[in-house]
Amino acid sequence: MGRLLFVPIPGKLSWSQYDFAKTVLVAIFPACCCWPQTASGIVPPAFTTPAMIQTLSSPSKPAAQPAKNGDLPLYAELADSLQSLIEQGTLRPGARVPSVRTMSRQRNVSIATVLQAYTTLENRGYLEARPQSGYYVRPQLACFCPEPRMARPMAKPSFVGVNDLTVQVMEHSLEPGCISFGAACPHYSLFPNKKLARILGSVARRDPTLVGRFSMNWGYEPLQREIARRYLQAGCPLPHDELVVTVGCEEALNLALRSVTKPGDTVALETPSYFGFLEIIQSLGLKALEIPTSAREGMCLDELRDALENNDVKAVLVMPAFQNPLGSLMPDDKKRRFYDLLCEFDLPAIEDDVYGDIHFGDTRPKPLKAWDRDGRVLLCSSFGKTLAPGFRIGWIAPGSYLERVRRLKFTSTLGTPVILQKTLTEFLRDGGYDHHLRSIRRAYHQQMHLCTQAMLRYFPEGTRLSRPQGGAVLWVEFPAKVDTLQLHQDALKHNINTAPGALFTVKDRYRNCLRMNCAIPWSDELEAALRKLGELVARQLG
Ligand SMILES: Cc1ncc(COP(=O)(O)O)c(C=O)c1O
Repeated sequence: MGRLLFVPIPGKLSWSQYDFAKTVLVAIFPACCCWPQTASGIVPPAFTTPAMIQTLSSPSKPAAQPAKNGDLPLYAELADSLQSLIEQGTLRPGARVPSVRTMSRQRNVSIATVLQAYTTLENRGYLEARPQSGYYVRPQLACFCPEPRMARPMAKPSFVGVNDLTVQVMEHSLEPGCISFGAACPHYSLFPNKKLARILGSVARRDPTLVGRFSMNWGYEPLQREIARRYLQAGCPLPHDELVVTVGCEEALNLALRSVTKPGDTVALETPSYFGFLEIIQSLGLKALEIPTSAREGMCLDELRDALENNDVKAVLVMPAFQNPLGSLMPDDKKRRFYDLLCEFDLPAIEDDVYGDIHFGDTRPKPLKAWDRDGRVLLCSSFGKTLAPGFRIGWIAPGSYLERVRRLKFTSTLGTPVILQKTLTEFLRDGGYDHHLRSIRRAYHQQMHLCTQAMLRYFPEGTRLSRPQGGAVLWVEFPAKVDTLQLHQDALKHNINTAPGALFTVKDRYRNCLRMNCAIPWSDELEAALRKLGELVARQLG
């Protein structure tokens, strides 16, 4: 028996979209009775009641003749047409798209082409694969949720007060049983721990002297080459022997700041900014000058120019790719203008690229360093967000500050454990890293998406959320009345650890803001924690 189904069809469809919509409408019907659970955070689609499918009456143009875009490969064309159907709302969240085989038959393309198109949409965050079930449209971020507002500029630089709460947040995040939205530490289950442990064992067995031999080094050369090779792929050529391998990105940042400043100097940086930056700035006796930053496109260049004209700034600390905590991504053109500004004021920049590989779109953003012609950009990063947080392996490409950074590394940690560098090199070389990166990017994206959806459900009206295109953290701006320091204390009583906005500034601001780490596997417990946070905020609002 036929059933009726009302599906919104946008007024204007191109031929290829029309044919495709028709295919999809017919093919998704069987999926109508198996929607995902709301407990998993996935919004049920609009058409869940029994209904009859009305296939569209075919216009006079022959079916199955998709318009070809001369420049695009077939898979990209297919991905694009499916994406516009999702964006226009023809395909609703939760809908199952035709199976790979069906789509291949109906579009007259190979299975590999369809698979590649679906994988592309998975990477773009439009589809998700469910084991034994097929591909489904992922819930999309509600576009009516406003983004956090940009802060006002700071009149003059300020020394940083140490906030004991930072250490408390980090310590709580390690406690078993605590839901850790507070520290930007990805969950250990995201990493290939067993494989790395096996390689580590094998490296140690093959050369046990790596344990007993003292090693002072700027980096294990094969690892330096692997890192340089990956930057080359990202459009940023770097000579491998100008890289210094460090103990995490944290050491790289320390070395960078020490090599371009002396105590009392002023460093300009984004606001809000990662509390780790503020801690290092404080420990080196530097002053911070916070530059207003957009949650979408990063540091505001007009404000930066203004700050540079009116203050004696010695360096700029910046995170163009998926800034912590805003998640902003600086467009390439803006990076070029940023670099021009550095040249105009003859300043070095310290670039933190620790989230560069965690992009949700198809391509990795080029680091600012790619525009560097005269060695003024000190690029810092690590494997801490992508592969092995426990190994604490990072690096710095210090440009013209190489010798100074090497001297400082000598007095800082002498060298970085070779046994760990060798293990990572073998992992990078055996080809598993790209595959791992793809899956970890998908995991980060999925987590971010599910957390966002849950926050939209549970956080009160008036809440603003950032929309990162990569990375692992979300910035939440609650209505002005909310006090997130109080919220932090209240939430701890329920074993929920948060990072209040006050930690991300040297001024008294962001009292109503929160940074949320989303790199935690989704679970009912996580959803309950987000619901609880929403309740605690609602209580404050009365
Ligand atoms: C923006 C940013 N930079 C640097 C670091 C430190 O990285 P690592 O663990 O490699 O020292 C972190 C850690 O959370 C971070 O969020």
